[in-house]
Amino acid sequence: MRVGIVGSGKLGAPLGRLLAVAGHDVCFSDTEPSRAAAAAAAAAGGQVRDGSPIEAARFGEVVIMAVWWEAFPAVVEELGGELAGKIVIDPSNPITDRDGTATAVAVPDGLTSPQYQQHVLGPGVRLVRTFNTKYPNELLELGTAGQGGGTRADMPYWGDDDGAKKAVVPLIEDAGFTAIDGGGLSEAR
Ligand SMILES: NC(=O)c1ccc[n+]([C@@H]2O[C@H](COP(=O)([O-])OP(=O)(O)OC[C@H]3O[C@@H](n4cnc5c(N)ncnc54)[C@H](OP(=O)(O)O)[C@@H]3O)[C@@H](O)[C@H]2O)c1
Repeated sequence: MRVGIVGSGKLGAPLGRLLAVAGHDVCFSDTEPSRAAAAAAAAAGGQVRDGSPIEAARFGEVVIMAVWWEAFPAVVEELGGELAGKIVIDPSNPITDRDGTATAVAVPDGLTSPQYQQHVLGPGVRLVRTFNTKYPNELLELGTAGQGGGTRADMPYWGDDDGAKKAVVPLIEDAGFTAIDGGGLSEAR
């Protein structure tokens, strides 16, 4: 599957690497092109490339938005219509660390965090929340172990679009985890 990564930081880089190792075609992007290039270099051996955020969004059948929660609306706007009709994976948690301290962000209107992201994306984008429950080093270690035939850690996923959820399950499994259906976006962590 073609996977676009928007945000090749602490989480996006190792997640893209796990998927590339599993044989998916991964395009890394970031505000800082050298960060995307470094993520692609670290995933060498897989089918990888790097490009601009718009190129990564255009490339992906599935697009992973590995950016900070509070940046999400601006990133969606920047990507214009490139996400229309696509499956988008949201690995974010509603946390900010603007001042260097992780602080919970209040999600507007009593929504869960991915319900709010879905509202920002609009109804034509097929959102699945997953890969948000592990620290990046843990994700890489556990995923690599699972890919190597070791014990697989659970990876929950949530969504309101059953087809999108079904499409994301093989990505979770290929990344080395056991996919666990957590229910709809209203139930998401
Ligand atoms: N780190 C964790 O422990 C962890 C665990 C679970 C889930 N998550 C979630 O994963 C997401 C990413 O976290 P992270 O720790 O990977 O953050 P990070 O290391 O800061 O990476 C985010 C990357 O996205 C880039 N970015 C920002 N705006 C962009 C845009 N418009 N287009 C392309 N790239 C853009 C950032 O670049 P700039 O620096 O230039 O803004 C940065 O390189 C967050 O939502 C977080 O909640 C993180």
